[in-house]
Amino acid sequence: MPTRYQAVRDQLQATPRTWLITGVAGFIGSNLLEALLNLGQRVVGLDNFSTGHQRNLDEVQTSVSDAQWANFHFIEGDIRHLDDCRLAMAFCPAPSEAGRAGTQPGAIPVDFVLHQAALGSVPRSIEDPVTTNSVNISGFLNMLVAARDARVQSFTYAASSSTYGDHPGLPKVEELIGKPLSPYAVTKYVNELYAEVFARVYGFNAIGLRYFNVFGPRQDPNGAYAAVIPKWTAAMIQDQEVFINGDGETSRDFCFVANAVQANLLAATAADSAALNEVYNVAVSGRTTLNTLFQELRSALAGNGVSYAKAPVHRDFRAGDVRHSQADIGKAQRLLGYMPSHEIKEGITQAMPWYVRFMR
Ligand SMILES: NC(=O)c1ccc[n+]([C@@H]2O[C@H](COP(=O)([O-])OP(=O)(O)OC[C@H]3O[C@@H](n4cnc5c(N)ncnc54)[C@H](O)[C@@H]3O)[C@@H](O)[C@H]2O)c1
Repeated sequence: MPTRYQAVRDQLQATPRTWLITGVAGFIGSNLLEALLNLGQRVVGLDNFSTGHQRNLDEVQTSVSDAQWANFHFIEGDIRHLDDCRLAMAFCPAPSEAGRAGTQPGAIPVDFVLHQAALGSVPRSIEDPVTTNSVNISGFLNMLVAARDARVQSFTYAASSSTYGDHPGLPKVEELIGKPLSPYAVTKYVNELYAEVFARVYGFNAIGLRYFNVFGPRQDPNGAYAAVIPKWTAAMIQDQEVFINGDGETSRDFCFVANAVQANLLAATAADSAALNEVYNVAVSGRTTLNTLFQELRSALAGNGVSYAKAPVHRDFRAGDVRHSQADIGKAQRLLGYMPSHEIKEGITQAMPWYVRFMR
């Protein structure tokens, strides 16, 4: 019997739909774009390039056919502006309008929204809570309002494992959360609260995906707020020092981006009413310490012709970080039919050639 994911992909290929991806020039957004264009879908993308890059869009363009790329319509805009959010909800030109950028008459309305745009990173939010708040909360609210008014079929948004905060339970189950440990975590929790209230007050359907440390090609290795896998991989390729915050026994449930793409497609197309207006962990349910991660990255790079001989340098624990994080993924399995396709090792193996190419 085909998995629900296979059935969803077959159905989408047979009857293409229109999607809006916010944050499309970012890491997860551009991977969603690639997957959807490969399935023959029409996609509208919204991004303001604050942390995303044109090069991510260029890379997707080279990986799909010209006909698939013609189904993509990009808007440079900001989710903090309600007008930009509204414009994105009905931007995709109808076939007779195709080729006329910016066309609105005859536009095809968006069926499914995948809202990824936000300012990620716990340290960034500690340094600049005001900007993180305005993008992640006011921007989120704008998207909800625009999607509600456009009567989209579904609204799937990027929530975060940071919402578990100081709750000590492991593995993390969706109902048991603690107090937030950073401004970023507050914003992601407020997203969930707003989505719940929109369901109650307006009958609007949304699904939140609590991503756990997603990684893969196109995750930015540069800048002060880079995530651990791209940051360490880049340092190793350039033969620089790798810093481990704390003793290295901090653990995470690292999730390859293909699993996150799967969760988005399953959530967006979920029809069972029990699955709607819920939040789901998106992870593998694995637990990898930073010390183990260091070894895994070093050996994957060796397999790609890069040898790294330096020992890691330990420094202080980082403010706002949780000690352990591991997801229970039973709810997503039960209600969405989610079945992660990649364990951490397979994900690292797939991502490494991209980093080696990118950094050289
Ligand atoms: N990567 C992870 O491990 C992880 C974990 C938990 C949650 N998330 C969430 O997933 C989403 C995607 O994260 P990512 O890792 O791809 O990050 P990313 O920084 O690569 O992508 C975010 C994108 O949003 C865009 N953006 C930011 N502010 C915007 C604004 N005001 N208007 C329009 N676009 C804007 C950026 O330019 C960027 O392209 C975010 O909501 C993030 O909080 C990611």
